[in-house]
Amino acid sequence: MLNIKITPATEKKAKPDSKHLGFGVFYTDNMLVIDHTEGIGWHDARIVPYQPLSIDPAAMVLHYAMESFEGLKAYRKPDGSVQLFRPDCNAERMINTNKRMCLPTLPVEDFVQAVKTLVKVEEDWVPSEPGTSLYIRPFVIATEPHLGVRTSKTHQFIIICSPVGAYYSTGINPVKIFVEDEYTRACPGGTGFTKCGGNYAASLISQVKAHDLGYEQTLWLDGVEHKYVEEVGSMNCFFKIDGTIYTAPCVGTVLPGVTRRSCIDLLKHWGYTVSEERLPIADVMKASEEGKLEEVFGTGTAAVISPVGELRFEDQVAYINNGEIGPVTHKLYDTLTGIQWGTLKDEMGWTVPV
Ligand code: COI
Repeated sequence: MLNIKITPATEKKAKPDSKHLGFGVFYTDNMLVIDHTEGIGWHDARIVPYQPLSIDPAAMVLHYAMESFEGLKAYRKPDGSVQLFRPDCNAERMINTNKRMCLPTLPVEDFVQAVKTLVKVEEDWVPSEPGTSLYIRPFVIATEPHLGVRTSKTHQFIIICSPVGAYYSTGINPVKIFVEDEYTRACPGGTGFTKCGGNYAASLISQVKAHDLGYEQTLWLDGVEHKYVEEVGSMNCFFKIDGTIYTAPCVGTVLPGVTRRSCIDLLKHWGYTVSEERLPIADVMKASEEGKLEEVFGTGTAAVISPVGELRFEDQVAYINNGEIGPVTHKLYDTLTGIQWGTLKDEMGWTVPV
C-alpha cells in the first residue's frame, strides 16, 4: 500500500466548457508522482499541483525512448458518483510492458490505489455531459542523466488527467481505412504487445500516408509476411464474416486491449463464435466480394468502438454494410458505454467505484 502525500493546488483552474473538450487538450489541477531509485524501489508518492517536469536534458527517456504509458477513464454515473472501468487490467498491462522495456513495475494494487487517489482529488474534473469522461494517463519515464545505452537507475511514475469529449465529435461514424503493406507496426519478438511511446511514434508515417491518400487510418498487417490483419490505427480490430467474429491473436505483436478483451467476453456471452486465429487480408477481401463481410470495427479506450465503412487493399476496395453501422458494432458500443457510464447494470463486474 502506498503512502501518498497530498499537497493539492491551492488555486484551481477555470473548468473548460464540457461541450467542447476535444481529446487531450485540457489538464486538471494536480498530478501524481512516485520516484523509483535502484536499490530503494518506489518512494515519495505524492499528489502535487500540475506542473512542467524538471528533468536533465541527458535523461535517458529523452534519448532512448525508455518509457511506457497507459490510458483509462473515469466516468460520471447518473447518480453523480464516479467509477473506473477495469483499472486492474491497465495495471497488469503496464507490468507486462515494463518488463519488456526494462522499466520498474508497480504492483497492481498500488497502480489502482494511485489512480483512485488522484481521481478522488480531481473528482470535480470528471465531466457529466453525455459521452464525456476524465481520461487518465499513467506513464513511467527513465530519468537518469546518462548517454550510455543501458537500463536507468532512476525513474518516475506519473499520472496526469484530462477531461475529454467523445473521441469522434460527430458520434460514431464509419471510417475509411487504408491497408498498409509497406511499413510494419510490430514483429515477433518486438514491442508490439507493449504500450510504449516508440510504437506510436513509428506508426505515424503510415497515418500521414493514409491521410495523404484520403483515408482516415491504417490497417496494419503482420510484419513478417504482410498477409494477416493485426490492428487498425492504434486500436484492435474485429471482422464479422458470415456470422463469425475474428480478431487477431495476442501473440506478441498486437496490443492486448482492455476494450478488445471486454468485447470478446461480451460477444461470447451473447453466443457469438469469436475466433482469435490469424486472419489473412485476402480472406477479408474475398469475403467482401462474396457479400460475407458483414461488419468491421476498431476497439480502444479512447473511442470505445470505431466502425469501419471502407477498406482499401492494393487496388481492391471493400465497402462494408453500405457505410452503415452494423448491429453487432452498435450493440457492443451501447453495452460497453452503458456499463462504463453506469446507465446499464454491470453484470460483468467490470466497474470500480472511486
Ligand atoms: C486508445 O485508447 O484507443 C489508444 O490507444 C489511443 C491513445 C493512445 C490516445
